[in-house]
Amino acid sequence: GGEQLRWDGQTVVVTGAGGGLGRAYSLFFGSRGANVVVNDLGGSFKGEGGSQTAAQKVVDEIVSAGGKAVANYDSVEYGERIIQTAIDNYGRIDVLINNAGILRDISFKNMKDEDWDLIMKVHVIGAYKCARAAWPHFRKQKYGRLISTASAAGLFGSFGQCNYSAAKLSQVGFTEALAKEGVKYNILCNTIAPIAASRMTATVMPEEVLNNLKPEWIVPLVAVLTHKSNTSETGGIFELGGGHMAKYRWERSRGALLKADDTFTPGALLQKWSDIEDWTNPQHPTGPNDFMTLLEDAQKLPPNPRAQELDFKGKVAVV
Ligand code: NAI
Repeated sequence: GGEQLRWDGQTVVVTGAGGGLGRAYSLFFGSRGANVVVNDLGGSFKGEGGSQTAAQKVVDEIVSAGGKAVANYDSVEYGERIIQTAIDNYGRIDVLINNAGILRDISFKNMKDEDWDLIMKVHVIGAYKCARAAWPHFRKQKYGRLISTASAAGLFGSFGQCNYSAAKLSQVGFTEALAKEGVKYNILCNTIAPIAASRMTATVMPEEVLNNLKPEWIVPLVAVLTHKSNTSETGGIFELGGGHMAKYRWERSRGALLKADDTFTPGALLQKWSDIEDWTNPQHPTGPNDFMTLLEDAQKLPPNPRAQELDFKGKVAVV
């Protein structure tokens, strides 16, 4: 047997930890020596109501198994109170798992401001508030591990979930930026897009599928990314579920150099359309600096002959 990854002496805050994935993370960290702050407002999956039972039950489970945990019942909108619970009880915070979430599924046609605003409040503002409150502690101690929770809905857009899709992809940009700002202070930030059985997915997936999507199967990646032995993995985007794990990256097509044609007409662009969609020899940019390389490379592309005024179907029409 190898050495166990452990979090002795460290404090882990898990938001939305009263059920589903957050509960699975909390029980794991509790079993591996961490002080766990189990946050959950205890409302419905649509963001209605509240109760202290959900978080307290998870705390009881951890404590009765010999672990250390305290509950916090604030909404993630008040992230500063959640982080304060960690400081008050354990004097520190080392890991933040931004996990709390709700759904307000409805077609865009029928969406009300309330459906949009509530999703933004929990997923976008909530994740911001918790990270914002943890950040000064992370910087001061030159240590922090942060996990953001995105979703395939965010990566691809999902029918009937434009509010949720927008909020979930926001976690990618947010976390990429935090990864860049945090790296100097040993603050490592990664994004996961999980798939797991929970009350959120219970209504949309059949039972035999859900049986193969255990929330516990998401835990190992979260563990590896938030352990002190991770010293380099930051800004990653991971998709996982059902025991499968994979990493995402951006891909940029070979592209076209419009500049070689000094007309800059729409017709000049259409003439180069196939290059814009050419996925042979793609690039995998990791930051804005790559754009400079792109421009240098673009100078080496063959010049665009004078625009021939083509439309999308290759007809001579557009200038
Ligand atoms: P869940 O509904 O079991 O867990 C979410 C928890 O967040 C609930 O316990 C809820 O009470 C809590 N919560 C909601 N609003 C809160 C607030 N304002 N403050 C504090 N806590 C709040 O669902 P699940 O599946 O465990 O979801 C966890 C995260 O994973 C969510 O961010 C969800 O969007 C995301 N996710 C889940 C997927 C899945 O397949 N289960 C797919 C993609 C993303």
